[in-house]
Amino acid sequence: MKDVYTGKPCAEMLEYLLRRRSAKAVDMIAPGPDKGQMKQMLSAAMRVPDHGKTAPFYFLVFEGEARDRVAAIIAEAYGRNNPDDKPKKAIEAGEKFMQAPTVVAVIYRARKAKHPLWEQIMSVGAACQNLLLAANALGFAAQWLSRWYAYDEHVRAGLGLDGRDVVAGFIHLGTPPKKPEAERDRPDYDVLVTYWDGPSDIKKGDDAYDREKFSLPELGYNIQG
Ligand SMILES: Cc1cc2nc3c(=O)[nH]c(=O)nc-3n(C[C@H](O)[C@H](O)[C@H](O)COP(=O)(O)O)c2cc1C
Repeated sequence: MKDVYTGKPCAEMLEYLLRRRSAKAVDMIAPGPDKGQMKQMLSAAMRVPDHGKTAPFYFLVFEGEARDRVAAIIAEAYGRNNPDDKPKKAIEAGEKFMQAPTVVAVIYRARKAKHPLWEQIMSVGAACQNLLLAANALGFAAQWLSRWYAYDEHVRAGLGLDGRDVVAGFIHLGTPPKKPEAERDRPDYDVLVTYWDGPSDIKKGDDAYDREKFSLPELGYNIQG
């Protein structure tokens, strides 16, 4: 059996984690990963902490003609949602799916388990992040996007999803752009980290979340399991 790593000093990996960032899908260039590279990346994506070994995810790979077909479904959905807009707008909406040479949809699908479903949701997020990291490790740029169409019923049905499936992300993959994007603001360590010494004086970060506006995606069952 190959070594498994529960800890392995690797300065390069730490340096990478401290500096990693996404590239914009629109800036990515061809080629995307080949089938062998994709298998490595998705194998890394699956290897995430997973309470109860439920594998609450599956992956759809879109390249070539499949990507064009999804673009057409998105354009159709845009047209239905915005019947007064010019047809050109619908085509442009679909074309956004074709910006990167390869797109992987990471789909959350809850499995039967003893533990709270919330924990499965977190595992699928970890799978998305592992996919980004593995893509970078193979030299590809990656961006995790949802966009409106992740939640659109027409698009979801066109992809073959049902009420139990949630798009955790469309991971866009391609050769990195020549010019990296400028760095974005990063979280402030000093407002997010407390060495706990009792329940007061905990630094909880900015409390700007708009609870009314956002909710968990509607599922065909109770999210609490
Ligand atoms: C679940 C999820 C969905 C996202 N959807 C979008 C999106 O639709 N559009 C967008 O511009 N960024 C989206 N982002 C943000 C980008 O993936 C990413 O955070 C941003 O490009 C900066 O990335 P970096 O911190 O890896 O450099 C999403 C992030 C997550 C985690």
